[in-house]
Amino acid sequence: MSDCEDDVPRLSAETLAALHEFYAESGRTGPEQNSMKTDKFSVGAVEEDWRMSQFWYSEDTAARLAEEVMQQAGEHGRIACISAPSVYQKLKQLDSTRSDSVSAVLLEFDRRFAAYGDEFVFYDYNNPLCLPEDLLPQSFDIVIADPPYLSEECLGKVALTIKYLTKGKILLCTGAIMEEPAGKLMDLKICSFLPKHNHNLANEFRCYVNYESSLLS
Ligand SMILES: C[S@@+](CC[C@H](N)C(=O)[O-])C[C@H]1O[C@@H](n2cnc3c(N)ncnc32)[C@H](O)[C@@H]1O
Repeated sequence: MSDCEDDVPRLSAETLAALHEFYAESGRTGPEQNSMKTDKFSVGAVEEDWRMSQFWYSEDTAARLAEEVMQQAGEHGRIACISAPSVYQKLKQLDSTRSDSVSAVLLEFDRRFAAYGDEFVFYDYNNPLCLPEDLLPQSFDIVIADPPYLSEECLGKVALTIKYLTKGKILLCTGAIMEEPAGKLMDLKICSFLPKHNHNLANEFRCYVNYESSLLS
């Protein structure tokens, strides 16, 4: 039995049933479809698969979060995106237009993102420190993470990865119900900024940081 089998899913059973129906009625081949749209860095280039708890940010939210981590990482900074592919994609889009470039790595469970080559790192939060040797400890200026499940067990494991990789700065995106564990595990404060998704989530969703940020106010 996996450690996370009793995690709280992001969608209710009714919503999952409605999604099943939507895929059936719309004639789409469903979430297993492995299509990359023409711009491989556009948000949604890989279709959401709710079986992996995938809920992509809206364009505006992905852009706001990407701008935030770029600014916090500084010129030529290094950014780790854990289970947050939309932020990685938006970083690639924005960075191509700027001179003070940053570098970004995407740690993800979904191997469809292996299309991003060396910047994709397979990551399963169940083995939080099972990372490639070249991902050195405290080697990222900022780590942004959006864990797949709203459970302390999941957040606790992802926190191990975050703390291993970051030089200090952390931006976490998860449910409002995770405020207490986020504070306890990583000393994170809840932000006023409200992240939005392409499809509305059943749970109230928030960002958390451990540094001075305009997201706070
Ligand atoms: C709620 S989504 C966050 C995505 C974010 N909102 C975005 O738009 O980039 C959770 C992410 O966790 C990933 N995931 C699923 N199972 C995982 C696992 N066992 N370990 C690590 N990440 C996982 C999913 O593929 C998905 O990208």
